Amino acid sequence: MPLVIAIDGPAASGKGTLAKRLADHYRLPHLDTGLLYRAVALALIDSSLSLDDPEAASRAAHALDADRLDDPRLRARAMGEAASRISAVPEVRAALLAWQRRFAADSQGAVLDGRDIGTVVCPDASVKLYITASSEERARRRHLELAGRGEAATFEAILADIEARDARDASRAAAPLRMADDAVRLDTTALDPDAAFAEARGIVERARGDGA
Ligand code: DC
Repeated sequence: MPLVIAIDGPAASGKGTLAKRLADHYRLPHLDTGLLYRAVALALIDSSLSLDDPEAASRAAHALDADRLDDPRLRARAMGEAASRISAVPEVRAALLAWQRRFAADSQGAVLDGRDIGTVVCPDASVKLYITASSEERARRRHLELAGRGEAATFEAILADIEARDARDASRAAAPLRMADDAVRLDTTALDPDAAFAEARGIVERARGDGA
């Protein structure tokens, strides 16, 4: 049975780092699904189209070029906000769903991280993790990460961004951010990346031991 690990959580919760480490450990392909939404937003911005035009967003999602997911501009702070806005459009989500499901159906298994992996994209995943941390801790981490890339922003501005993004992602009608009923919650507020990885691995091993 292929091992499919579904990882969800709010912005800057550490889910991406954890997903990468789990994928390396189990030698599985990894998809950061946030990049798909960021790429749709970037395509609109590059074409000078409005982020508030659902039809343009839907067309951009259908035309998404998955070979361009390593564009460094996708990681910029403004792109997270733009991605969150277009991700509320149901047609955008529908266009990206098939793509994500094909990725998850890899015969080896897969690790996917996002907001709706355990609830919508991979409801039958072998194991589901819901990664969270306090908003202050998430803002602290994001602040360090952005500073490391030379993007200046105050801690307060980042905290406000994160809280606004979580509120939007959790309150939209289409596939909102929500913990799946059968997910295991992991709060990383007091955990460094190694400790979070050790906890996550333990959760995966227990799920496999239970017959996943
Ligand atoms: O994980 P991220 O910060 O790169 O995600 C950017 C935005 O994309 C996020 O605020 C909401 C949206 N998103 C989503 O709606 N569903 C996903 N599975 C992944 C991201």
